[in-house]
Amino acid sequence: MASASSPQQTLLIPRHVQYIKDLGQSSNELGYHLTSHLRMNAIYWGLTALCMMGHKDALDREDLISYVKSCWDEEAGGFGAHRDHDAHLLSTLSAVQILVILDALDEIDVDRVVSFILSLQHPSGVFAGDRYGETDTRLLYTAVNALSLLGRLSDLDIEKTAGYIVKCRNFDGGFGAVMGAESHAGQVFVCCAALAIMDKLDEVDEDSLAWWLAERQLPNGGLNGRPEKLEDVCYSFWVLSALAILEKVDWIDAEKLTAFILSAQDIEGGGIADRPGDEVDVFHTIFGIAGLSILGYPGLGDLDPVYCMPAELIESLGLRKRWRGLPRRAAP
Ligand code: FPP
Ligand code: ZN
Repeated sequence: MASASSPQQTLLIPRHVQYIKDLGQSSNELGYHLTSHLRMNAIYWGLTALCMMGHKDALDREDLISYVKSCWDEEAGGFGAHRDHDAHLLSTLSAVQILVILDALDEIDVDRVVSFILSLQHPSGVFAGDRYGETDTRLLYTAVNALSLLGRLSDLDIEKTAGYIVKCRNFDGGFGAVMGAESHAGQVFVCCAALAIMDKLDEVDEDSLAWWLAERQLPNGGLNGRPEKLEDVCYSFWVLSALAILEKVDWIDAEKLTAFILSAQDIEGGGIADRPGDEVDVFHTIFGIAGLSILGYPGLGDLDPVYCMPAELIESLGLRKRWRGLPRRAAP
């Protein structure tokens, strides 16, 4: 049994800061090359986690800006996941988020990025990730988030876009990836957040959805993404962010979920895993920290659950929508 001062009961901020800093220094390792298709996303996840922990400056601003610019795909007018990769919507959102955090949007051709994003919308209202790719509500949210951050939501056909989400709403109040697909907490987050950005939250059946979300908590405190699935730290964000948008985070047992997230930390090397004992990665590190922020964990900054970015930044851009996390607790 862990004692009151056990490392598993405290967020090990200095370890996690070092873990994220070291990720950028491992370019001679195989894992770095195997994950190049996620590099831009990984930088956004790492930078956002650092912001939450009060260490935004742990990564060099100029290096980050020049890396983002080096991933520009001149032909498509968007950003790839790494140098010489084709532009994709997911990496373009991450690039925009990084530049917004660094106050460097003036370094890019916003008009071309907006055209690239809008070119990926299908007549049904859904978005594709690139001109060949799959379509789903995750990509629709990605487009809506990026257009909003670029100050260009007015270029979007809101009725058509929100109309696609409404068609993905299920009998249980949740949302799926495409029309007819089962409810999944990741898709519930993207649909709620996209509707929030478009001021269309009245399309959500709030009570039945909040019940479905609250039922994601398992006896060990962790959250799953769908009935009958295992708990996973990243669902701390997908589920809690949706509950925060519905202003019902208190429908979850915060103490048990906090303990579950903390138990998935690597107490030596830093980073957070999907569940205790597994290998850590930056994806579960940001979404674990994001979950703790929404739960009011002491010493963390506020995270805006709609944009998954620092709340004070979103507020300063005039983009804040309705949401509520738990009050920030004082450090013991
Ligand atoms: C679970 O996926 C998560 C989702 C489906 C949501 C994905 C959302 C995005 C990529 C957009 C995120 C953007 C921001 C700004 C946060 P999974 O494939 O791990 O699902 P599984 O647990 O069922 O395997
Ligand atoms: Zn996960």
